Amino acid sequence: MNEKILITGGCGFIGSNFIRSLLNHRQNISIINLDVLTYAGNIDNLRDVRKDKRYRFVRGDITNGLVVGRLLKKGVDAIVNFAAESHVDRSLYNPAVFLKTNILGTQCLLESAIKYKIPRFIQISTDEVYGSLGPKEPAFTENHPLQPSSPYSASKAAADLLVKAYETTFGYKAIIVRSSNNYGPYQFPEKVIPLFITNAFENKSLPLYGDGKNVRDWLYVEDNCAAIDLVLRKGQPGEIYNIGGQCEKMNLEITGTILNKLGKPESLIQYVKDRPGHDRRYALNISKIKRELGWQPKYKFEEGLRKTIQWYLENRDWWQRIKTGEYLKFCRRHYGK
Ligand code: NAD
Ligand code: DAU
Repeated sequence: MNEKILITGGCGFIGSNFIRSLLNHRQNISIINLDVLTYAGNIDNLRDVRKDKRYRFVRGDITNGLVVGRLLKKGVDAIVNFAAESHVDRSLYNPAVFLKTNILGTQCLLESAIKYKIPRFIQISTDEVYGSLGPKEPAFTENHPLQPSSPYSASKAAADLLVKAYETTFGYKAIIVRSSNNYGPYQFPEKVIPLFITNAFENKSLPLYGDGKNVRDWLYVEDNCAAIDLVLRKGQPGEIYNIGGQCEKMNLEITGTILNKLGKPESLIQYVKDRPGHDRRYALNISKIKRELGWQPKYKFEEGLRKTIQWYLENRDWWQRIKTGEYLKFCRRHYGK
């Protein structure tokens, strides 16, 4: 049977990897990618699949009920909602757009999903909704209270609460997945790993926040895509699944490894003022998804980072166009604002 899926935010980092992975691994599938193309959405991320008959791109905003309704009323088997403002630093200076897309966008999709009786809905959330861990505290389970620290994570937590409220009030059972920090090809070079790789290529400094000892739980994007596909097929409606890399590392360690692999000097590290409200440590307990769906990450950090560095090395045009602002100019010419 042909499965029709609406994927939102498919021109971003994880969404584009997810679409490519679905097209590679599933025959009987058709995908609509609804993306408004913000600064982070890049039409080139899916250049290789644009002629695939199973794939269709629609430029539009998830907060626009008319656009969403038009796509859903023709019948869709599932919605996977990646669309979001995703960068913590930006949320400190321009929170309103985070609240609009991440909260009102999710609400708009939920309303439409109920109206058009969409059988499955996967809300892509984040480990940041749980807040920050102390050095010895156990990793977050799905039952940990939500204690977000930034406008970004507060907006994602609000979206998760809306999903649960729609379940309680209207009986609509969406699934929430909460991933840890992803890295891999096509990640926008404002996030720490691609920023540091591309800066190091160009012998520019690597701005390390605070003392560099904050810890993140790193997950190679292909592993995350495999987990989300499994949840899409076999996840239980109404459940929440953590998706983590079981790979806690300090930023300082990541920075050293990148410099080492590229043969660049440690003098490129520049300690800068800390991010306000900077969460100290994230770590996810993934027992539930392991036990119930049989998923675990395949990539070791060494291997994932090697592939990531290789990709940025081979795709200089992609990130240089972004870093020089060329890509935004292209979007304005072809797609308007
Ligand atoms: P990204 O910033 O690379 O991509 C976001 C995409 O959403 C872009 O293509 C953008 O154009 C699109 N978009 C933004 N606002 C939109 C709107 N109003 N309507 C339609 N499209 C819109 O983000 P990402 O890193 O790929 O993250 C994807 C999802 O995964 C987000 O929900 C994020 O919160 C979550 N997440 C990310 C990570 C990570 O490490 N990157 C980890 C956990 C969870
Ligand atoms: O944990 C999941 C989250 O991971 C996702 O929900 C977010 O969408 C995603 O952006 C990411 O958030 P982080 O804030 O953890 O990612 P970022 O790459 O911005 O930062 C990772 C760590 O590196 C963090 O401790 C801050 C630090 N950092 C970041 C930048 C951009 C620096 O030291 N210097 C930098 O220039």
